[in-house]
Amino acid sequence: CNVVVLISGSGSNLQALIDSLDEENPVRIRAVVSNRAEALGLQRAQAAGIETHVVQHRDFADRESFDAALMEIIDVHQPQLVVLAGFMRILTPGFVRHYQGRLLNIHPSLLPKYKGLDTHRRALEAGDHEHGCSVHFVTEELDGGPVAVQAVLRIGADEEIGALTERVHAAEHIIYPLAVRWFADGRLRLAEQGAMLDGDLL
Ligand code: GRF
Repeated sequence: CNVVVLISGSGSNLQALIDSLDEENPVRIRAVVSNRAEALGLQRAQAAGIETHVVQHRDFADRESFDAALMEIIDVHQPQLVVLAGFMRILTPGFVRHYQGRLLNIHPSLLPKYKGLDTHRRALEAGDHEHGCSVHFVTEELDGGPVAVQAVLRIGADEEIGALTERVHAAEHIIYPLAVRWFADGRLRLAEQGAMLDGDLL
């Protein structure tokens, strides 16, 4: 299963994905693309011998031309799956449609709660007892596509934002490689009614 990973920053989810690969795993990361040249994740990819590309959004006049350049680089690798791993750009409807059913994202909240930014602070301020992260198929609605897998964490009494952030991140590193593996094995897919695992609607 050819996979292209899009990043903007640290790339710890990319690292988790790289670390999950072994002979039995059909996932092949063909390229890592970043919109920021200084993204640490590029070094992680290079250390693993994976081809890297930088497409800087500020070199383009608008989102459409940026996304067109991204698509051109991605499609050289004929990916069955495109993985957003901390890619901090909003993608155009045209991009999302082009990769419909083969575009996954990870979001640090229990979707549909807390779409957008600052999710850990918002969960704490709301006095929630639970928080977590979600892997979802990307649709045109930001952070709104069908959820494939979630990790639910109980928020500790007086838990600080730093500790919570770290725990959610650690949970991301477990569920993202899992979801990618399910997809590569043909077990997880996007159907008209939503995400399906082994033929059952999630
Ligand atoms: C993660 O918190 C993810 O949920 C969000 O961006 C962050 C990426 O972290 N979409 P990393 O670059 O994988 O370390």
